[in-house]
Amino acid sequence: MSLRSVIAGCGGYLPELVLTNDELAKKYGLDTSDEWIRERSGIMQRHLAGPNDTATSLGAEAARRALAHAGIAATEVDGIIVATSTPDNAFPSTAAHIQAALGVGRGFAFDVSAACTGFIYALSVADSMIRSGQARCMLVIGSEVYSRILDWTDRSTCVLFGDGAGAVVLRAEEGTERGVLSTHLHADGTQAGILYVQGTTGPLRMSGKEVFRQAVNKLSSAVDEALAANNLTKQDVHWLVPHQANVRIIDAMGRKLGLSGDRVVKTVARHANTSAASVPLALAEATADGRIHKGDLVLLEAIGGGLTWGAALVRY
Ligand code: UT7
Repeated sequence: MSLRSVIAGCGGYLPELVLTNDELAKKYGLDTSDEWIRERSGIMQRHLAGPNDTATSLGAEAARRALAHAGIAATEVDGIIVATSTPDNAFPSTAAHIQAALGVGRGFAFDVSAACTGFIYALSVADSMIRSGQARCMLVIGSEVYSRILDWTDRSTCVLFGDGAGAVVLRAEEGTERGVLSTHLHADGTQAGILYVQGTTGPLRMSGKEVFRQAVNKLSSAVDEALAANNLTKQDVHWLVPHQANVRIIDAMGRKLGLSGDRVVKTVARHANTSAASVPLALAEATADGRIHKGDLVLLEAIGGGLTWGAALVRY
């Protein structure tokens, strides 16, 4: 009987401090407006890390919530993968720090670097490890503190990002229709210059217009690939849980899939772009509030620096 990686639980965590667009503009003396930010991106506010918050502390809290939701003890976890572009250290990995923070005491831990697509990449690796029998229970976490790598004088980027973490527990199950159906990863390193972090500490630089121009085409082709690989059509999709960078990109993807607005999970207005954390945060929110049910077909997609992009289909 073939093994499947089933999402047994999920959780999200956002730092306490919330800044509205107006508060942000005022705090950093930016020549911008609430109206511009809302109209161009859909963002109304973002959570920002406090002095003691780190990718480890945010990720560990999201992971605790995901484990509690799954009813699984930390000591049952075989492996941890963290998607992050803002690790606390070059090494040890954020995953190793989180393993210690949770008291897992066994197994393996490593980070994946694929910017905003990081969670899809991490999910793909974890799914492969579970299917091949290398692990039976894994934590897949996206955790980011982009506030530490932003140029707070650059209005074209700093208004777009926020901090936070999301996590899922993947568990091996046999003889089930549920679980990760397939993942589809892409990268085009020749496009590195349109979205990158200078050196290892920043700041982040982005040609937003150019990323925007490529986003819908690349996401659409990854989504088509995911559906075709499973002999499914867009009519089969119950929920789109997209990367949360810009509501205009999210709505365009919803329209391409023919999904009504209430079938697309959106957190960008309240969280802004939390990079690798955005998909698991959105998934956790839509699970906790009862929107996504067991058995629903859930489509995940993301695009980010690299360029990297990808999609995953999950029978919830
Ligand atoms: O998560 C990784 C993937 N990232 C993305 O998917 C981001 C993709 N890009 C975007 O979401 C959008 O391109 C942005 C939200 C970044 C920008 O929206 P846009 O409609 O593409 O605006 P634009 O860059 O063309 O800028 C329009 C104008 C410019 O002024 P001029 O040249 O027309 O005079 C900018 O200088 O808006 C100006 N501008 C601002 N004005 C007020 C740029 N940032 C701001 C700002 N406030 N914060």
